[in-house]
Amino acid sequence: MNATDREYAQELDRNDPLAHYKSQFVVSDPDMCYLDGNSLGRLPKATITAINEFMTREWGPEVVTGWGHWVDEAQPTGDLLAAAALGAGPGQTLVCDTTSVNFYQLCLAAIHARPGRKTIITDAANFPTDRYILEGIAKQFKLNLLIINNEDSAIATHERITPEVLAPYLNDDVALVTLEVIQYRSGARSDMKAITDQVRAIGGLVVWDASHAVGAINLNLDANGVDLCVGCTYKYGNSGPGSPAWLYVSTRIQQELQVPIQGWFAQGAQFEMGPVFEKADGIRGFQIASPSLMGIRCVQTAFSMIKEAGIDLVEVKAGLGTQMMIELYDAWLKPLGVELNTSRNPKERGGHISLVHPDASQICVALRQIANVIPDYRTPNSIRLAISPLATSYVEVWDGFARMRDLIESGAYKTVKEGGSRVT
Ligand SMILES: Cc1ncc(COP(=O)(O)O)c(C=O)c1O
Repeated sequence: MNATDREYAQELDRNDPLAHYKSQFVVSDPDMCYLDGNSLGRLPKATITAINEFMTREWGPEVVTGWGHWVDEAQPTGDLLAAAALGAGPGQTLVCDTTSVNFYQLCLAAIHARPGRKTIITDAANFPTDRYILEGIAKQFKLNLLIINNEDSAIATHERITPEVLAPYLNDDVALVTLEVIQYRSGARSDMKAITDQVRAIGGLVVWDASHAVGAINLNLDANGVDLCVGCTYKYGNSGPGSPAWLYVSTRIQQELQVPIQGWFAQGAQFEMGPVFEKADGIRGFQIASPSLMGIRCVQTAFSMIKEAGIDLVEVKAGLGTQMMIELYDAWLKPLGVELNTSRNPKERGGHISLVHPDASQICVALRQIANVIPDYRTPNSIRLAISPLATSYVEVWDGFARMRDLIESGAYKTVKEGGSRVT
């Protein structure tokens, strides 16, 4: 059957072992095609219950005594997230703070673990917060920040950093390489193991940002020999706007590393309130401060669903869903002048694809305002479209693409003006 036949998507839904999960999320408008789960995931119904129960059964009645059992929740929640989505054993992951803070912490810890080395490397297509934080670190510690120009298609295809792209920049002055597992704009996915091994061979460390990968693919952090990784929980993790992020530090290097913000939660004998900082053993030595309990409960419900569903099945659905998008793109959108900026190889992408058009911004506004399809726009000319494996059906994706084809073909998108929001 051809992908352009709606029955094709219906058949995929009928055979989808994860199909029943969509009804476990709040879908208030069944006509809406929500293709932006790579930016903010839908709300799991279980989260509403969990937060309500936390307030009525714990915070309300227990007040401060609750801290007795809340105090260490960042660790078991990290273990849950690691088992559900990271392919990582216990004692290496914390759910805490924001991706930006965790990124800063682990990058500086890595740099300081390689004294004398003065070079740090990232790529031009990396997410802005990572680039800005590195710029600040380089300035403060007088380091040389090398930025690979992977937005130039002569240097990289679809912004994808491969060992071949990285090789010319590596030498024994490099302390840190930091990359996204999946590029936020193009959706390109790097080979974590090959790059981690390559950088280890020259004595450097890699900090991976897995924000666009976690909950869409199996990261296999332990098997891939990853040392350091961070990510968020609000995209495919479905844990809510501003939900706490996570950090992963392999047991191999926990002893060796010291994060710059020495908060009291990392203090070995925390409640002795002693005069001098002495780092706790294990992953708690990387925690700054009080856990955000309500955020953590949101992470627990959402990642329990991913654990139950199985991350390998999640990855298969991301691959099939993006494959269907690419087939629909070939049939409907390519003839209309739209370009594909994502690999056709499912091993080189995750749950989203990127389409390029000179009027991408206006098309995205029109999709929301006219067609009840939610994509997002990324400057300068990209439309990002995702399948969030637990919360999106194949038919929802198919309908979204059909509506987009109609909007572009008819030129109806040209009637809309600005989106009216600072957020795209
Ligand atoms: C790859 C990546 N890194 C970092 C961030 C920033 O996350 P936060 O605002 O939680 O620090 C984002 C946000 O979307 C992101 O996509």
